[in-house]
Amino acid sequence: MKPAILVLHGPNLNLLGSREPEIYGRLTLAEIDREIKRHARARGVRVECRQSNHEGELIDALQSAGGKGFAAVVFNPGAFTHYSIALRDTVAAIPLPVVEVHLSNVHAREEFRRHSVIAPAARGQISGFGLQSYLLGIDAALGVLQSRRAAREAGR
Ligand code: DQA
Repeated sequence: MKPAILVLHGPNLNLLGSREPEIYGRLTLAEIDREIKRHARARGVRVECRQSNHEGELIDALQSAGGKGFAAVVFNPGAFTHYSIALRDTVAAIPLPVVEVHLSNVHAREEFRRHSVIAPAARGQISGFGLQSYLLGIDAALGVLQSRRAAREAGR
């Protein structure tokens, strides 16, 4: 069966295309999601893309991802990256690998963006490659799933 990956976009990412295009580019969220799905199809992966401006909805989506059959999450927490301990705790609590992604290079921007409270709980972070951050995130999640499967099979 094809592995399934949840792609989760946080606050203000619904405004992509018109939101600070010099930083985030001109692709809309719908265009980004289309490219993510194209990439996933080429890799033989099923993806679902969701966006929410609400911390609680993002928490619910993360908590229910495993029960809905997702094996990993590619997550852009937006500004919640920098201060949401609640989201950090959810990422730490769920058994699925979570890859944190950012369109912009958060380490090259304002001081407050250089710190992610999510990153220590995530499997890893990809930042600064625009749309490619998400595609790399899918590949990173697949790599984690493949090595877990290989380790399980070697242990049998
Ligand atoms: C972002 C970076 C965050 O600092 C910012 O608040 C966002 C987008 C990115 O994808 O570059 O909303 O997560």
